Amino acid sequence: MMRKAILMMVAWLAVLAVQARERVNFDRDWCFLLADTARMAQRDYDDAFWRRLDVPHDWAIEGDFHVSNPSGASGGALPGGVGWYRKHFAIDNLKVNGEKFYLEFDGVYMNSTVYVNGREVGYRPYGYSSFEYDITPYVVEGDNVVAVRVDNSDQPNSRWYSGCGIYRHVWLTRTHPIHVKHWGVYVHDGKVEVDYENPTGQKVKVRNMWLDREGRPTSIRRPHLWSCDDPYTYKVRTQLISGGEVVDEVETVTGFRNFRFDAKTGFWLNGRNMKLNGVCEHHDFGCLGAALNEDALHRKLSRLKAMGVNAIRSSHNPPAPELLAMCDTMGLIVMDESFDMWRRRKSAGDYARFFDEWHERDLTDLVLRDRNHPSVLMWSIGNEVLEQWSSAEADTLTLEQANLILNAGHDASTLAKDGEMSVQSLLTQHLADIVRRYDQTRPITAGCNEPSPGNHLFKSGALDIVGYNYHHQWVKDVPRDFPDKPFIFTESVSALQTRGYYRMPSDKVYVAPEEWWKPYTDPSFMCSSYDNSRVPWGSTHEETWDVVKHTPYVGGQFIWTGFDYIGEPTPYGFPARSSYFGIIDLAGFPKDSYYMYQSEWTQKPMLHLFPHWNWQEGQTIDLWAYYNQADEVELFVNGRSQGIRRKDDHTYHVAWRVTYEPGEVKAVSRKDGKTVCEQTIRTAGPATAIRLSVDYQGHDLTFVSAEVVDAQGNLCPWAEDQICFTATGGARVVGTDNGCQTSMERFTAPKRKAFFGRCLVVVKGGGRLEAVSPMLKTAKMVIE
Ligand code: GAL
Repeated sequence: MMRKAILMMVAWLAVLAVQARERVNFDRDWCFLLADTARMAQRDYDDAFWRRLDVPHDWAIEGDFHVSNPSGASGGALPGGVGWYRKHFAIDNLKVNGEKFYLEFDGVYMNSTVYVNGREVGYRPYGYSSFEYDITPYVVEGDNVVAVRVDNSDQPNSRWYSGCGIYRHVWLTRTHPIHVKHWGVYVHDGKVEVDYENPTGQKVKVRNMWLDREGRPTSIRRPHLWSCDDPYTYKVRTQLISGGEVVDEVETVTGFRNFRFDAKTGFWLNGRNMKLNGVCEHHDFGCLGAALNEDALHRKLSRLKAMGVNAIRSSHNPPAPELLAMCDTMGLIVMDESFDMWRRRKSAGDYARFFDEWHERDLTDLVLRDRNHPSVLMWSIGNEVLEQWSSAEADTLTLEQANLILNAGHDASTLAKDGEMSVQSLLTQHLADIVRRYDQTRPITAGCNEPSPGNHLFKSGALDIVGYNYHHQWVKDVPRDFPDKPFIFTESVSALQTRGYYRMPSDKVYVAPEEWWKPYTDPSFMCSSYDNSRVPWGSTHEETWDVVKHTPYVGGQFIWTGFDYIGEPTPYGFPARSSYFGIIDLAGFPKDSYYMYQSEWTQKPMLHLFPHWNWQEGQTIDLWAYYNQADEVELFVNGRSQGIRRKDDHTYHVAWRVTYEPGEVKAVSRKDGKTVCEQTIRTAGPATAIRLSVDYQGHDLTFVSAEVVDAQGNLCPWAEDQICFTATGGARVVGTDNGCQTSMERFTAPKRKAFFGRCLVVVKGGGRLEAVSPMLKTAKMVIE
């Protein structure tokens, strides 16, 4: 009897399994060509000579930097153009039950047109939106071809590097005719809403089951809350039942947390008052380009988390779905942003030209896609849109002119009049309404660099949180100007730094450009890595942090930026082609200010002394130290004390001015007279060898740092030796970088010059890695 019951149960489960949806990754074996003719859409087009590759893929990162590339230095000076992707795939047992087929793209930059078997199934201009097509009417039994035309020829269309191609994942889903719609599950306040297709008209029962993090059925009466320190997630299993069978099943990751932004006390998560210690991030992965890679993403987020970051702003566009999934499980709060422009453009070919027709769809899709993530705590409907002001004749502006307008002071005539509801304010309301139609559980903000309450966006009354970009000097007026409104820095700082480069005296702040409208250049093409270099609209790191830390009504900040990114090499032009704003350089190596935040935002005892100790005899050198968990730091040069220094409530580093002599400098931090941390830096002798070490080990990629060292293993801080990498035995070099903003070396080339002593090589797969340079001892490493 028992045995019969079990057999029946097994048979029942088997029926269920057959009926459930099938969602497969569709990344492998695409054909690619950087060329364009309409015939490439056709089913029988001969693509045998095309290059074979897997997506995510970014063709621009494979190219060479050139001043004449239409993206300009702001876009990274890498190529654009039109490319085609084709993939052959088979479908069996078509129309057995009138099943449906969906093709889903997480992101294609940009202007993509998708064809199945020669017939157009859809077009999507915005390169950051995820989208899905119902391809059921186009597929046939047996062989099928999907072709995707990607058009990123109209440049400049971005103020930063966008990448080109199918740069995120692709999925193929096969469902029963009765099925949950794309992004059809909405979990909020412990309730589950399900939107589904039922062309059959049969009776459908919806069943939802809560699962704990281990996948076991659970109750949510007293849920385990999600927080940054304990990012606990649940899953909801949704089943559609028809005719006694489960015909569809989907799982949704979600979580419980309560949070609020308060006009007087700032940000609260689960009853705890805390600051959003956030950074803004663009989507590229340095030498790997825009192509989404989970290892590179995890490396990025882990490095930020280790600095004490607890929040990410997806500036200025919808992120990859994987970023949100990782933030859910790593405990990082997300500000999910939609657009960098509305109707008024910032560059000739940008999204403004699609805005009228597409904004509703793109914004809706962002909210539908992302609203179940516990990490997403707010929506941003735009960044520094020119609609903040009445007049900004954007349609006739160049990128440079638009930037000037953004940074100029605006007179009162460009602000909203009292009692008036301008078109710009109405547009703000309209966008906020779209968001609220699909989610009312999160506040809406926008990155505003016009701090006056006459800003048309503020005047609309539609923003729940006042978000300033910069303007830390205006923060004292916020309670007067925006009574009862919560406040955060949606963007802050914009300090400028080149890893390893130090401009002295360090207590002088270098502003570059001097004024926002003045051209700037300096033969070094570098910016100082003491926290003493910034843009005129920004601040040093310490300045804004001091305001955030000591102003209770400031909920937190999103620093521009965590990592350097390709493009926007302010304050320089070509050959500079990547940013100076990052706290971490493009190769992923921390700059010194990383440790300032670590000293303020983390508890583990740390001490960071800089710069290096290779100067000219007799030179006056400033030494700085960041530290925590200690009362004081003492510095020694060749064993002689240079004095004890202490921070106070408004200082974030200690410093000494000393005369250089070769040897060693040592810093010792102490609490109650007991040593907490020590750090010694020695003068390096002549460069003799390469030292390889694993910087980050992913599942598929290994990030290896290559340092030039002397006979004793000290880093040679001025070394610029070119290092050639060879990977064998299944391993392959996929990228190299050194964080230098002006390097013209190809990102995909297996060689790279050391920059201030180090560079990075990214290796795919396991095998052996060898690093060779003419004057240095070769280094070898086995990669598991
Ligand atoms: C802001 C802008 C960012 C970036 C930054 C550089 O105004 O929102 O995208 O351009 O300036 O300082």
